Amino acid sequence: LDLASLQSVRDLAKDVQENEERLDILINNAGIMMCPKWETEDGFEMQFGVNHLGHFLLTNCLLDLLKKSTPSRIVIVSSVGHQRGRIHFDDINLDKSYNPEKSYRQSKLANILFCRELAARLQGTGVTVYSLHPGVIRTELGRHFIPTVPLWKKMIFSPVLLLIKSPWEGAQTTIYCAVDESQANTSGLYYSDCALKKPAPEALDDAAAKKLWDLSASMVGLA
Ligand SMILES: *[C@@H]1O[C@H](CO)[C@@H](O)[C@H](O)[C@H]1NC(C)=O
Repeated sequence: LDLASLQSVRDLAKDVQENEERLDILINNAGIMMCPKWETEDGFEMQFGVNHLGHFLLTNCLLDLLKKSTPSRIVIVSSVGHQRGRIHFDDINLDKSYNPEKSYRQSKLANILFCRELAARLQGTGVTVYSLHPGVIRTELGRHFIPTVPLWKKMIFSPVLLLIKSPWEGAQTTIYCAVDESQANTSGLYYSDCALKKPAPEALDDAAAKKLWDLSASMVGLA
């Protein structure tokens, strides 16, 4: 699956729909962080396109199968990076002023707003939705910005390295949201360290969540 290509997303969804009888858990985990101003195959700004729009379309294409497989769950991996984020409705691809961090925050805020709106739309279907901050994890996610950090900054922040999770540890909150029985009847909420957590106020804006849904649907060509 190439989340930077809507065609690839549709192809994967079709393959799953045709060949799988059930879909119990969908985990939207892939992401790209703070890359330069790149575009997806369909001309969307890369971080918004991959982190949000690709998963938005994939999830929507697989909803019927998830509804047939209830109780089923959708887990959306966001980040604490959603804080101080904003959805730039007037310049969603950030063509006017691109900044890698601003774009990352927008995409991670979009993940939580998508979770809220999707949960509202799926109320009563038996499909529940979760979003989360997995922690700072030792993966290659930082490949686009770590090389740009000056050495003196790396040294100042080196104590932070002690808080970095291994990939095994970093998967735990995702797994909790995917299978923990205590969360069977909750939906639309945000988690961190295997516990409920209140996200930043901008992630609780239901009007923005609805507006983002409509914008995303038109961008990916959903009716
Ligand atoms: C969730 O709801 C079902 C059906 O009402 C109930 O049997 C179950 O105990 C609930 N689980 C939790 C953790 O609340």
